[in-house]
Amino acid sequence: MAMKRVAAFSAIRAFTSPSSSSVSSPNLTRHLHASPGSKKIVGVFYKANEYAALNPNFVGCVEGALGIRDWLESQGHQYIVTDDKEGLDSELEKHIPDLHVLISTPFHPAYVTAERIKKAKNLQLLLTAGIGSDHIDLNAAAAAGLTVAEITGSNVVSVAEDELMRILILVRNFLPGHHQVINGEWNVAGIAYRAYDLEGKTVGTIGAGRIGRLLLQRLKPFNCNLLYHDRLKMDPELENQIGAKFEEDLDTMLPKCDIIVVNTPLTDKTRGFFDKNRIAKCKKGVLIVNNARGALMDTQAVADACSSGQIGGYSGDVWYPQPAPKDHPWRYMPNQAMTPHISGTTIDGQLRYAAGVKDMLDRYFKGEDFPPQNYIVKEGKLASQYK
Ligand SMILES: NC(=O)c1ccc[n+]([C@@H]2O[C@H](COP(=O)([O-])OP(=O)(O)OC[C@H]3O[C@@H](n4cnc5c(N)ncnc54)[C@H](O)[C@@H]3O)[C@@H](O)[C@H]2O)c1
Repeated sequence: MAMKRVAAFSAIRAFTSPSSSSVSSPNLTRHLHASPGSKKIVGVFYKANEYAALNPNFVGCVEGALGIRDWLESQGHQYIVTDDKEGLDSELEKHIPDLHVLISTPFHPAYVTAERIKKAKNLQLLLTAGIGSDHIDLNAAAAAGLTVAEITGSNVVSVAEDELMRILILVRNFLPGHHQVINGEWNVAGIAYRAYDLEGKTVGTIGAGRIGRLLLQRLKPFNCNLLYHDRLKMDPELENQIGAKFEEDLDTMLPKCDIIVVNTPLTDKTRGFFDKNRIAKCKKGVLIVNNARGALMDTQAVADACSSGQIGGYSGDVWYPQPAPKDHPWRYMPNQAMTPHISGTTIDGQLRYAAGVKDMLDRYFKGEDFPPQNYIVKEGKLASQYK
């Protein structure tokens, strides 16, 4: 038992990434509160209800519990899974004071505020089953000496494929046609007056990391003009292979694009960066796809621009907050092709991030390091793009 505790300490303490910055000294004394051996692990996922039993591989929901319940319990750990995450009376809140590990997913995020971190005296590890840990107050986590890690790369194909689909849905003006069919109508002109080919259009991605690059690769055969803006330029060989041109200045890229796709994480630098001024810099009628995070956009500015026609179509699966309230303006704006947050939680994606969570818990119990790219916060330091 004692050995297990020492192992768990070293798993969360060793950090050698050169690309991180210090936020403040970690309060390592909090780790001494951890119980030896047995850990209390809480998972927050969306509930599947009647859909849970329809697919044995549906592991990303409360009922599927990432498929790790038997494995955890056979090792003497306690595993509590819930979808009830908001407010002081929630199931999650009840377990905050004595949990050791909190697993959450961007699809149904457990918002981990500074207040919750302060209350969570035993907490050591925050795991994101997926990609994007912006539901956590990362600075507070760093100051408290917590480790935050995600399953980097787990669902990037799922998202890139979905973005390609959304681009085509907007360019071809697909949804009004589909709605006509459901409503018993037939009006070709009502669709065709603003339906285009994708070929020859200029597509720019803001952020060309794992998802952005996969999207660019998938767009190449469509013979578009491909642009990307990122804080980092790709190496020339990769850039040449992908066939996209680097735009160092975002505001110079925006007016060139017929279609803009957002692929940056939500950080202190990117929160709300797509605001009224940026929208005004875009071509009139620009199509925007955002599967990255809802809070990257100024919510009302997007709704207003869809109403005025400055944005010709907006599609994405990310909102703030999630689940989106009934009165969220994006539900009611014209020319939108929004869905709930689904792109990264295909069954294939779920199986990959469930396997990743299991692997990381296993390493945590054994005191081994995680893959370096999975760390978002370690030993008081944030990964470089979250600085
Ligand atoms: N909708 C979904 O289901 C879903 C699933 C996975 C990921 N995501 C979102 O997509 C984001 C990107 O995922 P990824 O795997 O491609 O991440 P990644 O880390 O591989 O790529 C992010 C890219 O953004 C760039 N970047 C960061 N900050 C920037 C800034 N201020 N200006 C310009 N460029 C900046 C980085 O340099 C990097 O190239 C995630 O952070 C997450 O929020 C959504």
